[in-house]
Amino acid sequence: KKLIIINGPNLNLLGKREPNIYGSLTFTEFLDEIVHKYPKTDIDYYQSNIEGELIDKLHEVGFTYDGIILNAAAYTHTSVGIGDAVKAIETPVVEVHISNTFNREEFRHQSFISPNARGVILGFGLQSYELAIQSFL
Ligand code: DQA
Repeated sequence: KKLIIINGPNLNLLGKREPNIYGSLTFTEFLDEIVHKYPKTDIDYYQSNIEGELIDKLHEVGFTYDGIILNAAAYTHTSVGIGDAVKAIETPVVEVHISNTFNREEFRHQSFISPNARGVILGFGLQSYELAIQSFL
């Protein structure tokens, strides 16, 4: 299986950013563990802080990969463009969030991704990503 994890804005700061909410592990450390734990699965990784680059990446992988694990971060709540891209591609997308966005500010309760996602996993810390990977196996 060929999967990709796509992370949106500010997730490059994982480990440093609000560790009380997002944990103290960097994403590279986490990814290292995961890649070793699922040796038969090909897991690519992409991160961008730029909305259009995230859309370009969805287009690039969205007709050939078996699954996309997308944490669009703040764009989840604002981006009609990323929502449309998820709808436009063929590869199923699982939406992921580290935190439980429903016990946070009201503006985090809306998602432009969810209506077109295969499913949503949130609130389990970095484990949310692993659960999303498992959903494709
Ligand atoms: C997040 C939740 C978003 O509301 C926030 O903007 C993020 C991270 C999460 O993984 O918990 O940057 O997507």
